[in-house]
Amino acid sequence: MSVDIHEHTVATIEDAIRTERDSPRALRRVVEILKREIQHYTWVGIYVLEGDELVLGPFLGKPSPHTRIPIGSGICGAAARERETIIVDDVNADSRYLACSLETKSEIVVPIMSGARVLGEIDIDSDQPAAFGAEDRKLLESVAALLAPVIGSSA
Ligand code: SME
Repeated sequence: MSVDIHEHTVATIEDAIRTERDSPRALRRVVEILKREIQHYTWVGIYVLEGDELVLGPFLGKPSPHTRIPIGSGICGAAARERETIIVDDVNADSRYLACSLETKSEIVVPIMSGARVLGEIDIDSDQPAAFGAEDRKLLESVAALLAPVIGSSA
């Protein structure tokens, strides 16, 4: 991913968050922008933490059976427990993986944090193996930081 695409995507998302006053609409816009701007993002979704469960909010891609994921379960639940971004190059080789689509080959999960508190996550799947690297992590951690006040204000 080029620096230009990265900067353009962050600027577009900043603008969308500023424009949308309503938190669910802002989350949806962010999902739409990420899916539209980055070609290797096959499935893009945002989970919001409710109690001990990650609850699926807006997403684009095939419907997922995993609409509520307990902390500690799946790659999503592992990222929430560890409070760290997780990149999986080959989901079929990771015993934590909860399958969403047979075409998915790799995944990145980025926690949305307020201090040490997990508010939610950005979850992205790709149909390409090992699709996610340092640039994706950097981009999505920036986006997660922009999303924290949006989710925090509606919690
Ligand atoms: N693969 C995730 C579950 C969510 S779906 O990909 C949409 C996981 O292992 O937690």
